[in-house]
Amino acid sequence: MTTAGLKSAPGGALRGTVRAPGDKSISHRSMILGALASGTTTIEGLLEGDDVLATARAMQAFGARVEQEGVGRWRVEGKGGFSEPSDVIDCGNAGTGVRLIMGAAAGFAMCATFTGDSSLRGRPMGRVLDPLARMGATWYGRDKGRLPLTLKGGSLRGLVYTLPMASAQVKSAVLLAGLHAEGGVEVIEPEATRDHTERMLRAFGAEVLVEDRGGVRHVRLPEGQKLKGTHVQVPGDPSSAAFPLVAALIVPGSEVTVEGVMLNVLRTGLFTTLQEMGADLTISNVRVESGEDVGDITARHSQLKGVVVPPERAPAMIDEYPILAVAAAFADGPTIMRGIGEMRVKESDRIALTAAGLQACGVTVEEEPEGMTVVGTKGGNHPVRGGGKVITHGDHRIAMSHLILGLAAQEPVEIDEPGMIATSFPGFVSLMTGLGGSIVEA
Ligand code: S3P
Repeated sequence: MTTAGLKSAPGGALRGTVRAPGDKSISHRSMILGALASGTTTIEGLLEGDDVLATARAMQAFGARVEQEGVGRWRVEGKGGFSEPSDVIDCGNAGTGVRLIMGAAAGFAMCATFTGDSSLRGRPMGRVLDPLARMGATWYGRDKGRLPLTLKGGSLRGLVYTLPMASAQVKSAVLLAGLHAEGGVEVIEPEATRDHTERMLRAFGAEVLVEDRGGVRHVRLPEGQKLKGTHVQVPGDPSSAAFPLVAALIVPGSEVTVEGVMLNVLRTGLFTTLQEMGADLTISNVRVESGEDVGDITARHSQLKGVVVPPERAPAMIDEYPILAVAAAFADGPTIMRGIGEMRVKESDRIALTAAGLQACGVTVEEEPEGMTVVGTKGGNHPVRGGGKVITHGDHRIAMSHLILGLAAQEPVEIDEPGMIATSFPGFVSLMTGLGGSIVEA
């Protein structure tokens, strides 16, 4: 892990064609479902970031055989269930990893103890433990269900559960526990969240019934589903593609294409918002790969204007607000983002750190309990100053977003902890420098 900081500096246009790394959400799920299934699962395009590698190690600890066969190519031999791990499961920085694995593990009569890095140990797990406890699992942990905690599962009852917050992680934990619950489970989603678990459960042979009742999604997993190993082609991660694409939008003269980006509508809220801001984004070569729409996205430098982002769009872009805020800094007029309280419980408090980072770079940001407004500088004809030293609290998306800002600002931008970028986008620096960006050790 790099200990020095990183610094990005303004320079020439960004040009070229790149591939987005594999989608993080789908990579975690392919490992977990592969381990829960009977037989062989082959995975291509897996994101080999630290988060997913922690999930791969966890699956081994629960009894699956997990082997790397080449770059992005993995084989998982599942035993049709989990067996008790002999040591603590360390999920690193990964909220998705630990929450989905706890859901999966709750289905089995065994004890497992989970921990993670200091960021993960500070994040709320009660949101997953509450429904699991209602199904019959027991747990002992720190205050408010913080890690480290021990979970004991087995003999689960079925559950009809209305999500109290828009969280695909909570939905997925209940569905995975539901694989071994008497009577199955139903998750009711007042706001639709990413549906990768539902899609992948079907690809592994399970019956998942989804009904839209007046805009409310009911996701039902009937009792007794058996998973069978399959092949998973992991599409490119739209949350990672966002960084080079926004860079192209804000650096004059740029044109960048990112190939193979997943276009699931429950993930593409950022691209819709950028188009509303006037971004020149074109999507081509749309095809279906492993049940997901995938396409190539080209971004050209654009004059952006501020917009009001509809709050109901938040679940489809929840990880992208930091990079949207960077684009908004270069737009004409304010961009208003509301209904994003969930950002405060991500790898860091992302509203606070985005606001602080942009303010350190001379951008006017108003922070609200569940929102923020970024006042773009273009209208006043003031370029973004940059020059900030940004504190990332080990948050990969905060780090990458501010490095992108530095490529288009007047003065270089420095971030403190670049090692965490490898959790989701291990090749970020070389990909950006390959496009012509200047990112060097600080
Ligand atoms: C994810 C869901 C989101 C997202 C996270 C990945 C997933 O979290 O922020 O990066 O793969 O299910 P929540 O479900 O908690 O909103």
